[in-house]
Amino acid sequence: MSLDDVLRWDGELTVTRHDPETGASFVIRVDSTRLGQAAGGTRAAQYPSLAGALEDAGKLAGAMTLKMAVSGLPMGGGKSVIALPAPRKDIAPERWQRILQLHAENIDRLNGTYWTGPDVNTDSADMDVLNETTEFVFGRSADRGGAGSSAVNTALGVFEAMKATASHAGLGSLDGLSILIQGLGAVGGRLATLAAEAGARLLVSDTDFQRLSWAREFGCTIVEPDAVSTTPCDIFAPCAVGGVIDSATAARLTTSAIVGAANNILADERAGDILRQRGILYAPDFVANAGGAFHLVGREVLGWDDDTVAQHTNRIGDTLIEVYAISEAEDITTDAAARILARRRAAHSQPVGG
Ligand code: NAI
Ligand code: PHE
Repeated sequence: MSLDDVLRWDGELTVTRHDPETGASFVIRVDSTRLGQAAGGTRAAQYPSLAGALEDAGKLAGAMTLKMAVSGLPMGGGKSVIALPAPRKDIAPERWQRILQLHAENIDRLNGTYWTGPDVNTDSADMDVLNETTEFVFGRSADRGGAGSSAVNTALGVFEAMKATASHAGLGSLDGLSILIQGLGAVGGRLATLAAEAGARLLVSDTDFQRLSWAREFGCTIVEPDAVSTTPCDIFAPCAVGGVIDSATAARLTTSAIVGAANNILADERAGDILRQRGILYAPDFVANAGGAFHLVGREVLGWDDDTVAQHTNRIGDTLIEVYAISEAEDITTDAAARILARRRAAHSQPVGG
């Protein structure tokens, strides 16, 4: 996609900055503030081009708008991306601190139009650093007054999504099902434990072999990263990166259902059409992975306690059943159905203070 195409975006705001000293480029994209101030995490990654970083931030911001709307949370959608000059693990601590400080300055200039939080390659400790410069930060560590990591609750929500989807797909309970988890990070690792406790047979894959050590001890089957899309399983759970299912992958997968934490699992609309034609039930990511948003926004904006966060997270399965009903009634993909439900719910919600 050309830079012109990337900038011809229907979101509300794009902010970019490049810092020659650290080599980092910064992008903030606010997709919508219709339901409230925009919120979405900070992703740190290497990108082949600045246009690629802008495109990713825009798509991720759009997914946050849908996630907030379908979840009934009074926030809009935004996202920020820090395009790194080297892999995150190779960036020295002082340079990383400086990168975070610059990012925080950019966020602060928006004066609350955009609130950040943790995402791929950023955690609560990083949120604490951002908070030294700006107040518009979710997910600080608990001893700094924040809600801490969102990963545990995201995993709980994906687990609820998995149970509802398995049942709707005619697979019954998770007991005895084969579940392939791609990415054993903060969310995927916890999801693996929950699925194993429910009696599932785990197949796991990660590009970081250190993450697989406990899985080996646990007796999980290890799948090579490039064999994921050709390995048969009952449920495929992408919990690593987005865009893992394009048309070719959708045509190849041997699974009954897809339920994962990754944002923007489908590379394009066509992939969703193919999954539908092939009878593979896809749980739209922005519904299934909303547990993190319930945790952060629920605790830090709405003042929810543990029980209230859990009640909302447990309802993710019910929301998916509504999505599947719309998909069947309208003969459309589950992704299109979830967008309809998000629009319907947004039409009935009030912005904070509204
Ligand atoms: P993480 O960075 O802790 O874990 C990701 C894991 O995926 C790492 O172990 C990494 O080595 C692995 N990985 C990367 N590329 C891979 C590949 N091609 N094949 C197999 N493994 C690969 O990230 P986290 O927090 O667990 O998030 C996972 C996904 O869920 C991300 O896409 C994130 O945007 C999404 N998500 C996370 C939420 C949260 O609360 N942490 C909330 C909603 C979505
Ligand atoms: N990055 C996570 C997500 O995609 C958690 C998050 C939610 C961060 C809301 C900020 C705001 O859902």
